[in-house]
Amino acid sequence: MLHQSNRREFVRNIVSTGSAIALSALSYSRVQGANDRFRIASIGTGGKGWSDLTGVAASPSVEVAALCNIDHSAEHLGRAAETYPSAKRMTDWRKLLDDSNDIDAVIVSTPDFMHAPIALAAMHLRKHVFCQKPLTHTVFEARQMNLAARSFGLVTQMGNQIQSHTAYRTAVKAVHDGVIGQVIEVHSWQGGSPSWPRHIDRPVGADPVPDHVDWDLWQGVADRRPYKKDLYHAFSWRGWQAYGTGQLGDFGCHILDPVFKSLELTAPTQLVAEAPPIKAETWTDRATIRYRFPGTTRTAGSTIDVTWYDAVGARPPRERLSHIPSDYELPNAGSVLVGEKGSLVIPHVAMPRLFLGDSGTGNGSDSPLTIVDGVDHYVQWADACRGVDQTTSSFDYSGPLTETVLLGTVAIRMPGETLQWDSDSMRISNAPAAEAYLSKSYRDGWEPTWV
Ligand SMILES: NC(=O)c1ccc[n+]([C@@H]2O[C@H](COP(=O)([O-])OP(=O)(O)OC[C@H]3O[C@@H](n4cnc5c(N)ncnc54)[C@H](O)[C@@H]3O)[C@@H](O)[C@H]2O)c1
Repeated sequence: MLHQSNRREFVRNIVSTGSAIALSALSYSRVQGANDRFRIASIGTGGKGWSDLTGVAASPSVEVAALCNIDHSAEHLGRAAETYPSAKRMTDWRKLLDDSNDIDAVIVSTPDFMHAPIALAAMHLRKHVFCQKPLTHTVFEARQMNLAARSFGLVTQMGNQIQSHTAYRTAVKAVHDGVIGQVIEVHSWQGGSPSWPRHIDRPVGADPVPDHVDWDLWQGVADRRPYKKDLYHAFSWRGWQAYGTGQLGDFGCHILDPVFKSLELTAPTQLVAEAPPIKAETWTDRATIRYRFPGTTRTAGSTIDVTWYDAVGARPPRERLSHIPSDYELPNAGSVLVGEKGSLVIPHVAMPRLFLGDSGTGNGSDSPLTIVDGVDHYVQWADACRGVDQTTSSFDYSGPLTETVLLGTVAIRMPGETLQWDSDSMRISNAPAAEAYLSKSYRDGWEPTWV
């Protein structure tokens, strides 16, 4: 829950950060000589962390200086250690940060619930941060990440790498070019069937902890529970409220990203979920979230509704999708932006499809879609850390995007209740019970350092 002290401090911080002077990107970095390379640490080197690490290390200006994983098996720490043999190897990220004078920047690729505690600690030490999506586990943490990056003048990037793909970049440009006119409404969905546990109760019993896993460290800021094989570490943590953010949290920061970018959305003013009653510990197996945002220069009205659907086989209702012929098969996941002149389908992940006017044409040789080349999301961050160009998913963008996604996970816990969100004060004025889900408690001694 959002502790009173957190809230009091938070309100104070919103006020003080408003007048804080942002420090220049490199002002806190290690002093570098002309031939120095930028030294990074990777925390969570397995799973997605492997591609985060190799993606950033592809930059010739990067040196991999430290690797951290609670699992020493070949799949998790081993492969990275073999690939970067001169890098320091660590199990405990706190020790890594305690001894990090020679580190300039940190990649955080752990499960969701550990993003903010690790990234905030790193930012307090003035490290630039690349952090996986969703940026955090709670709305409060997302706001804090944004404040920390701003206050300390750090270079940040969330790991929603599809943003940098030609497909999403082309879609965003199409909307900005006015190809479909002002946008009337948006539908986004994920119709896949996740392999991780959903809508179940916690099984009883415990399994032996493998020798190569530090289960206590894996649990980090969360309450302790017995180890169960294949239920939490690795990958399956997504389905548990204590560790992950469910299907919306897993995909929202990807699929809603081109919607946010193209329409330049800020914060929703209200939202409501349709979902089954939630189990005590896991996320639901389906949810529909109806968000309302203030209109922007890209929208037709003074407000715009964005609806998210997740369920196996989920699709938006066809009758809401103007311009799209009935024989067009919608992708398994993606978005439709319904505009005044046409509709844009943004599959997750493939090139956008344009449907103009009543005839639904627009993808032929005379298509007004301008293809935008992709860029390297990882190297972009490494370059920006050295002062070359800027990142496109810095925390001042990805923080509000994550807040929106995670507000949906608040609504899922209170289906049918319309939540009125005031982003400035971080209040859900009409539903005090919902405010408890904007934050959470932390294990004693593991509370993050807030800004
Ligand atoms: N951007 C994408 O396309 C994409 C794809 C997959 C996952 N992700 C995100 O990446 C993150 C990791 O997901 P995953 O599927 O790789 O999970 P995972 O459980 O498979 O891998 C996490 C890795 O971090 C290690 N780890 C866990 N806790 C740690 C700690 N406290 N300190 C150091 N190492 C720790 C694990 O041993 C493992 O190697 C999540 O936030 C997830 O949402 C993003």
